[in-house]
Amino acid sequence: MKNRIAWKRITAILLTCCLLCSLLPLGAAAKATVGNLRFSAEGEFKILAITDMHQGSQYQPNMVRFIAAALDAHQPDLVVFDGDNLDGERSDPFASEAQMETSMRYFLTPLLERNVPFVVVQGNHDASYGRNSGFDSDAQYAMYRRIGGNLNLTRDPVPSLNGTGNCNVTIAASAGSKTAMNLYFLDCIEDNPLPEQMEWMAGISRSLKAHNGGATVPSMLFQHIVPAEVIEAQTPLPFSLGSLSRSFNDKSYGFLGDLWNFDGYPFEPVGGRSAEGEVEAIQAQGDIFAVVYGHNHLNYYQTVINNTRYINIPSCSELGSYGNFLFRGATLFTFHEGNPADFTMENVPYWKLINIQPLTLKEYWDYSPDFCQQKLLEPFSFLYYIVEMGAQAVLFPFKWVFRENKPVWVG
Ligand SMILES: [Fe+2]
Repeated sequence: MKNRIAWKRITAILLTCCLLCSLLPLGAAAKATVGNLRFSAEGEFKILAITDMHQGSQYQPNMVRFIAAALDAHQPDLVVFDGDNLDGERSDPFASEAQMETSMRYFLTPLLERNVPFVVVQGNHDASYGRNSGFDSDAQYAMYRRIGGNLNLTRDPVPSLNGTGNCNVTIAASAGSKTAMNLYFLDCIEDNPLPEQMEWMAGISRSLKAHNGGATVPSMLFQHIVPAEVIEAQTPLPFSLGSLSRSFNDKSYGFLGDLWNFDGYPFEPVGGRSAEGEVEAIQAQGDIFAVVYGHNHLNYYQTVINNTRYINIPSCSELGSYGNFLFRGATLFTFHEGNPADFTMENVPYWKLINIQPLTLKEYWDYSPDFCQQKLLEPFSFLYYIVEMGAQAVLFPFKWVFRENKPVWVG
């Protein structure tokens, strides 16, 4: 009799454990998921990605005017701030927490006024400023939440993970309750995601798949810093060129952009930080059709690795950091419910939407040195851009014929 009761108890405990285990991935996904996003009746969903605003205490009136104009022109369903949103450690440190919050409200106002949901990814400058000032990632997220409005922002569902803002957001089909697409957001702090973050993401992926009748849910990943392995998508040089090249895994890569393997414009050296096997993990996970990042402000390109599109979008900063006249702005992604992986992307530059007043010499002087240099170099940069764009146009048909992946026109 005693044995039977003991077995009953053991069976009950085992069943409870199994039940809890089966709920764990669901719980993780449910806790991580925020927002109530859905494809339109026409089966379309639009994301406006804005990166590297470097908003300090110095207001950026044209940037905010630009964000408002971009929202009105393109009516996105979601805005993603892809890191280096705040930067208080250059020439204009925040004097207080209140001033920092005021700066946040400043660039969020166009979204709050229009009731546009958004997600915040943090970048190396958000993190380093936080570390130096005491307003760390937690404090910054607390401020974002305090600002309120239509805020789709969540805390890290697994506090032990690297960073604060790791989360995923699902987008429902235009009709019914099916999940048509999923977005991951990884907080890389000042580097690439750690293996534990990739494992967490893989768990979410499995859970979504299990709740989608065993079919993979097409997903996109936003993070701030370029995955380090993307540098290996470039053609290596036969030998090192010293400071004109960079080394990675015992190979040398050129300083100038690789126009054959990168569609678009790699206007500054392409490369991430330490390789943590992210690209390999993404391949193994199998649901991510594109990874979007900023960090390299001038670059606007796409390269394909293992059928995943790796996309560097240009900076939106007006005065807070360097950028370029041609592409400075935001990036619009348009997805179709039938096949989200077959999306379109479009650069939405300042110059198309607003008239920008040129900076005065005093303004050049007042902002950070690299920004000054970049601005002053812009006439030369412009010539270089024209040459690179011309080269891409010439290469395009050759890529179409000779390259394994069909080229995508980025512009
Ligand atoms: Fe940046």
